Amino acid sequence: MEAYLLDWLNLLLRWAHIITGIAWIGASFYFVSLDNSLTPPKNQADADKGVGGEQWGVHGGGFYHHQKYPVSPGYVPDQLHWSMWESYSTWLTGFALFTVLYLYNASTFLIDKTLFDWSPAAAVSTALAFFAAFWMLYDLICRTLGRGRSGDLIVGACVFVLIVLASWLSCHLFAGRAAFLLVGAMVATTMSGNVLFWIIPGQRKVIAAIKAGEPVDPVHGQRGKQRSVHNTFFTLPVLFAMMSNHYGFTYGAKNNWVVLVAIMLAGALIRFSFALRHQALAYGKPVPWRYAVIGVLLLGVTVWAVKPDAQPVSAAAEPATFAQVQGVVTQRCVLCHGAAMQSKNVRLDSADEVAKHAQAIYQQAVVLKAMPMNNATQITDGERALLKRWFEAGASTK
Ligand code: HEC
Repeated sequence: MEAYLLDWLNLLLRWAHIITGIAWIGASFYFVSLDNSLTPPKNQADADKGVGGEQWGVHGGGFYHHQKYPVSPGYVPDQLHWSMWESYSTWLTGFALFTVLYLYNASTFLIDKTLFDWSPAAAVSTALAFFAAFWMLYDLICRTLGRGRSGDLIVGACVFVLIVLASWLSCHLFAGRAAFLLVGAMVATTMSGNVLFWIIPGQRKVIAAIKAGEPVDPVHGQRGKQRSVHNTFFTLPVLFAMMSNHYGFTYGAKNNWVVLVAIMLAGALIRFSFALRHQALAYGKPVPWRYAVIGVLLLGVTVWAVKPDAQPVSAAAEPATFAQVQGVVTQRCVLCHGAAMQSKNVRLDSADEVAKHAQAIYQQAVVLKAMPMNNATQITDGERALLKRWFEAGASTK
């Protein structure tokens, strides 16, 4: 019953997390595109009022005229829309999901004893320390090095090195599936940290200054912009890390941390390319696709690098009997899929159940190699090959 309710909690939290995540990243994509598409105001009166850029759009049957006041419109409008709960609710649902899945079940999901044998308490505290440490180091880099255009490049390079180190460490400490997710959650936490600690407080200071009739310090807007641009680069890498747990060939690859870094870097390059595209379109210039091309090439190299080894032909000779298959399943799967523990509501402790789940067994244990979870029961390649021959020959129950 407990496992069943946890599965529901997992489902509902995941649903809420995806919804809030769409709202947040959707808003982020929208504002980045808007910001990069702005052109100087056509009307001199608008420029005199402090408008720095404008964009016309058509959507849902109506025309929209956006105007951006880079520093201040000179007064505080009665109705002012803030963007923050999209971010906070994404973080809250995401952290709750991470807790229900990975922290609560640390010995199954977080720890891979063949990689690093430690206690659930130690693994959980280290995972939490990743979030805090990454935020503090990232924030320090931005505050000390992020000045001017060359500053942007230095910050970018330092943050990249930090993510490479975190990926390496995470993949050497935690089960591959958890390691990828942890790096994604760590970067996503920093994105929410940017909103909570810099972007929103900066906006509050600007509003307080306008209300007090004091001059507005443009540094708040510049800082908010810097963090908001970083968040844009983080979006695609984070989304990959969040989805990666469905793809055992990524987190289960030999040097899985390199795979993680390569795919995240490809995502950031592709995102950058889209930001440049908005600008190019606004000014009627040709779209520079080169960063997206590099990103796609990087993905291609990764696809090639993690390709499965060719199967030895001799192994394919013997057909597998159902008795052999049941032997393997009993030895390698029933521990977590029997009467006592029914992970994900899947039981494999009778002939009927094995036959019923033939397709799922093939997918999880042969194709994805996601099962046995972290190979806790030490299934061999020969046994996987046996399951493969059985399923591919028609999954007979004789
Ligand atoms: C150490 C425990 C453990 C072992 C051993 C294990 N599993 Fe699992 N299995 C799990 C857990 C935990 C889940 C739920 C995974 C999730 O929620 O992503 C699961 C999920 C599954 C699912 C459902 C996947 C889905 O997403 O719907 C199948 C099918 C499955 N296992 C098959 C197997 C097979 C076949 C074996 C043996 C070769 C096996 N498992 C061995 C723990 C285990």
